[in-house]
Amino acid sequence: MFRNSFESTWTRPLAELNTQVKCTVMFQSGHWSPFYKFLSFSLILLDSVRFGSAGTTSSFVRSEWPSVDIPLDNEAFAIPKGYNAPEQVHITQGDYDGKAVIVSWVTPAEPGTSEVFYATSENGYDHHAEGKVTNYTFYNYKSGYIHHCLIDGLEYDTKYNYKIGKDSSSREFWFHTPPKVDPGAAYTFGIIGDLGQTFNSLSTLEHYMQSGGQTVLFVGDLSYADRYEYDNGIRWDSWGRFIERNVAYQPWIWTVGNHEIEYKPVLGESAPFKPYLHRYATPYMASESSSPLWYAIRRASAHIIVLSSYSPFVKYTPQWLWLRSELHRVDREKTPWLIVLMHVPMYNSNGAHYMEGESMRAVFEKWFIKYKADLVFAGHVHAYERSHRVSNIRYNITNGERFPMRDESAPIYITVGDGGNQEGLASKFSYPQPDYSAFREASYGHSTLEIKNQTHAFYHWNRNDDGKKVLTDSVILFNQYWGSNMETHPRRRLKKHHLKAVHGLHSAM
Ligand SMILES: [Fe+2]
Repeated sequence: MFRNSFESTWTRPLAELNTQVKCTVMFQSGHWSPFYKFLSFSLILLDSVRFGSAGTTSSFVRSEWPSVDIPLDNEAFAIPKGYNAPEQVHITQGDYDGKAVIVSWVTPAEPGTSEVFYATSENGYDHHAEGKVTNYTFYNYKSGYIHHCLIDGLEYDTKYNYKIGKDSSSREFWFHTPPKVDPGAAYTFGIIGDLGQTFNSLSTLEHYMQSGGQTVLFVGDLSYADRYEYDNGIRWDSWGRFIERNVAYQPWIWTVGNHEIEYKPVLGESAPFKPYLHRYATPYMASESSSPLWYAIRRASAHIIVLSSYSPFVKYTPQWLWLRSELHRVDREKTPWLIVLMHVPMYNSNGAHYMEGESMRAVFEKWFIKYKADLVFAGHVHAYERSHRVSNIRYNITNGERFPMRDESAPIYITVGDGGNQEGLASKFSYPQPDYSAFREASYGHSTLEIKNQTHAFYHWNRNDDGKKVLTDSVILFNQYWGSNMETHPRRRLKKHHLKAVHGLHSAM
């Protein structure tokens, strides 16, 4: 019983944990009679039993902005002043461990310079790096000049100012490098997915910017420019200006989604990911990947693995071989937190995109269990959902073990595809709520993961509520590696009514 009570605190919603903390304080005060001590103890046990019950489907309904893109002449897409001024400025991590940054931007009229001037001091720029410029065409669209410049050899935990462009058209920004890769390093990540460029997207972005997040883990589907059949590049440009307010100052770690594929042979465009690959660089070679679409970084106390849902991943493919090697490189003594990003969720109880992640789950889930991943973030479904710790790795087609099971070695799966794009919300959840689903709600928002040290992190999902940020789903996480080293945990079978939920979904699709 004690063990169960302790286990439940590993992923316990904050409000429930507060109840236990209060009770614990009461015990220590010495003013309580044996009866009240017994009552309080019983409440703690009841609490842990309650945690093991079915999940929550939030019934919250909000009045939202319409799911249409912000007009191009809106100030959200303001073009910077000056001839050929750099625009769409964005940064991402440039190496494996956080001592390099890739600075990217677009000059609209001519190539100009690809140099970045940077310094730790406010008095002049004493360093510079030279980047490269590229451009592309897509049907009848011709892009501006896209610059990517790697600046490396940076100091950890240091603010850098940087300047790009020339003379009166130059622009200045800054970023803060992460702390040294260290098991005790505290760090806050934001998680955003399926953002697009509507007023709901703007609400998500502005709320995230108030959150204290230091780096965004972006789980795919960026601009939704592909929904514009003939002039989609214009919406790639507007999105670049839209997100600049944040991504020029802190790195976004990119994951590819289906809206980045842009396979349109009817327009003569049959090279997948063409605009995305030209515009958004990743440090894939630093993790010995052969593709910008899958790679890994280490940042502070986290090892982050980025996967591509839309590239081959079955056994012996390049992505499969790379992930097998990368998981061997994970050192939980240095980076206790193992986080995986992908676009298509493996556990999803929404009618939208139901079962689309099943093929990748069948291939990779066993590795997530073996290596005790902490969290798997995905997007794609335009709603929010958090799972319990579950796995379905025993199923082998013939043994009948077809139900996901509680598994304390498994990660928590979180879908944050609710950034606010023009396709709107996915509000058709399956009923009854499957046992693997802990909390779900069809609203726009973003998440934050506050890593406190090698053992604990606070996780929040923040709903956009008509102009306000509302903390809606909160969990305290206990690290999978450091926790599971204490003791192994028994698995528990989920209830069979999961199957009914699956049938309900099929009939609804
Ligand atoms: Fe998607």
